[in-house]
Amino acid sequence: MENIYLNKLHLEPPKGLLNDPNGLSYFRGKYYVFHQWNRFGLNHSYKEWGLFTSTDLLEWKHEGSALLPDTIEDKDGIYSGSAMVYKDQLYLFYTGNTKNNGIRKSFQKVAISKDGIRFLKNPGFTTPSGLSEHHRDPKVFRYQDLWWMIVGSQTTSKKGVIALYQSKNLMDWTYEGVFFADERLDQMCECPDLLDFQSKQVLICSPQKRDVVTDSAISSYSAYILGFVKAKKFEPISNFMLLDYGLDFYAPQTFKDPKGRYIMLAWMSRMTDEEEEKCPTKHFGYLHCLTMPRELILKDDQLIQRPLEEILNTQKLLKIDSNSKFSMMQNSEILSIEINFKEDVNHLSVILADEVELIVDTSYLTLKRKSWVDDSVQEKGLELTSLKKLEIFLDMSAIEIFINDGQKVMSLRYFPKTISKKHIINCQSKHLTKVSILNIGGKNGK
Ligand code: FRU
Repeated sequence: MENIYLNKLHLEPPKGLLNDPNGLSYFRGKYYVFHQWNRFGLNHSYKEWGLFTSTDLLEWKHEGSALLPDTIEDKDGIYSGSAMVYKDQLYLFYTGNTKNNGIRKSFQKVAISKDGIRFLKNPGFTTPSGLSEHHRDPKVFRYQDLWWMIVGSQTTSKKGVIALYQSKNLMDWTYEGVFFADERLDQMCECPDLLDFQSKQVLICSPQKRDVVTDSAISSYSAYILGFVKAKKFEPISNFMLLDYGLDFYAPQTFKDPKGRYIMLAWMSRMTDEEEEKCPTKHFGYLHCLTMPRELILKDDQLIQRPLEEILNTQKLLKIDSNSKFSMMQNSEILSIEINFKEDVNHLSVILADEVELIVDTSYLTLKRKSWVDDSVQEKGLELTSLKKLEIFLDMSAIEIFINDGQKVMSLRYFPKTISKKHIINCQSKHLTKVSILNIGGKNGK
């Protein structure tokens, strides 16, 4: 059976289950995207780091395993973390997860490589007092002539916080206390990140909401907060703002590329256990993908997300406006559509592949997706002050929608049952003008 879900613009593992992007970096002429990986199965029982590399952010190669759970401090999982290039060596910072007689213990560890292939691990350090063993996902950055490491954490009284460490040499780390605490970090904060835009800093976090009784994740999301780093603390000056308004986005990570851009990738899933269980790609031996790399820019106190120009340059963009006349296209190349809104068209419905509908009604945008579990409709809504442009990246089983040049973004997976339904786009305005685009998919470009 042909795999009609193989994405062209979204990184997916050759087999097994992928989750968070890890260790994003540029080292010796190559971009590195490590990722959480269970290469043995389609569940979360085993975690190592797998690796994709690229020289141009367009063509990627999966290199297989990169870090294995083979020491006493990481035997039950190489959990998420980040990377830094220093003195021509690649440093990976990650959490070693251990469980002995059901008791969790976390170690923050460093693995160093001269060639990006063989890594030498250090033993790492344990969790400071006052914090629980839900202490993970170290993100390292350079700030004010020091190395800083922020770690997602939880107090012993089960409040989400972000912990701070500092170092002069990337090897020896001192605990500097809680960097940020807030009720909205819920019971635990996963995958923190900090972006320095000079005038302001942006803190990214993924508060993890857990059902106290079953201890299974029930609803987690990723947010950003504007603020200032002052005296080893993050002082917020904004609310928590959603990084993505779609259905599948979590655990983002950023890095600075050689051009000085902040580039972010995220895990493109917030699937429930049942959704994961019934996800159609399981049939082909793999689960989940990452978002496309996005550039992050701070503008008018808003984090703007843009598809990378490298990707935009390769896309045959279909440009239409919201009162276009009916048209139909048949071209497997077309994966991106731009809809420019005319002032008089404020009601519009765009149906993608018969599975996903975007409804624009004056100042509200509704996203509806048919669930692959039971065909029920899942919905997300978004208040808009104005709508000028929608850019839709329609991959084989993943969609990213950039609203008003990336002021807001919606990411989601979709799984049409047959190839004939693939990429049929139907766009209808109040004036009953209609645009349909038929894109039959075709061979995967990877
Ligand atoms: C987020 C997360 C991280 C952890 C990793 C384990 O999705 O739970 O906090 O390090 O996944 O796979």
